[in-house]
Amino acid sequence: MKFGLCRTVFALFIGCALRYRGGMKLIIDTDPGIDDAMAIAYSAAAAELDLIGLTTVFGNTHVHQSSRNARYLVHKLGLDVPVAQGAAQGWQGEQHAPSTHVHGPEGFGDVTDIPEIGQNHAQGAAEFLVEQARLHRGQLVVCAIGPLTNIADAIRLDPGFVQNLAKLVIMGGAVFCNGNVTEHAEANIYHDPLAADAVFEARAPTVLVGLDVTLQTLFAARDFDALADQAPDTGGFLREISRFYLNFYREVAGLEGCGLHDSTAVIACSHEHLFETQATGLRVIQQGDERGATRPDADRPPVRVCRGIDVGQVMSLFTDRVGSLP
Ligand code: RIB
Ligand code: CA
Repeated sequence: MKFGLCRTVFALFIGCALRYRGGMKLIIDTDPGIDDAMAIAYSAAAAELDLIGLTTVFGNTHVHQSSRNARYLVHKLGLDVPVAQGAAQGWQGEQHAPSTHVHGPEGFGDVTDIPEIGQNHAQGAAEFLVEQARLHRGQLVVCAIGPLTNIADAIRLDPGFVQNLAKLVIMGGAVFCNGNVTEHAEANIYHDPLAADAVFEARAPTVLVGLDVTLQTLFAARDFDALADQAPDTGGFLREISRFYLNFYREVAGLEGCGLHDSTAVIACSHEHLFETQATGLRVIQQGDERGATRPDADRPPVRVCRGIDVGQVMSLFTDRVGSLP
């Protein structure tokens, strides 16, 4: 009898320990998207991150393709997390034209035979974000690496959403440098300037990881080759989908490598010490040639805008960790 009781208690303990991964609770709001795929792979390999869900948004591709691509990545990376689908268009109500010239016709470069695996989560993105922020009050980090429509929807749905967050890390903006969609605007902000402005008006504990730092993290074809050698399955897939992306950077931007935009934002969630930040309020230009520009505004709540980055450390974290995957 005594031995049996000890065995039961031990089994319960192991079960709890296995369920409790520990680490920072993280939801990534994403429009996969090639650099999104790289960022989600990183999150799967980062022991200090406990990814509890993905929410999808239009942007690099249509939102149903974002969701399909996200569910494929969850399956491929062996993640057991829900994918909650979000907005199909921005707050302006415009018909969205995906960035197919950058991320390919379906978001994964010239890889277009991505299967539909599993189902989207029963809740929509905003409902999922609000519920998880309440459930994990003060512990949840949300990393937004697409247009900010879902984040703004969550703020509209629950005014207490931002107070429940531990941190909101945004890949977006070009505050003290040129944009990448126009000379003024970065893509995630450009795709929904109204939602972005609403997010910068809320009092979320926000870190902005913009082009000011992400364009310093160029990942070249030889880096993808090395990654594919280290992690044949994951690295091989990332190399396959990134060929199209690398061509865009070479032919349009004249750069030998693509920016680790989204991975840099996910790394900032747990390694903020690798960045120098400047606190400034931000507003977003809504119309005209400067649509989507992120401008400093002292009347807005302060956002920690990344101005400096330890490029070597960030790149090493990415390659070492993604390289450790199958
Ligand atoms: O400007 C870069 C951002 O726009 C990245 O998030 C990329 O995936 C695209 O969404
Ligand atoms: Ca993205």
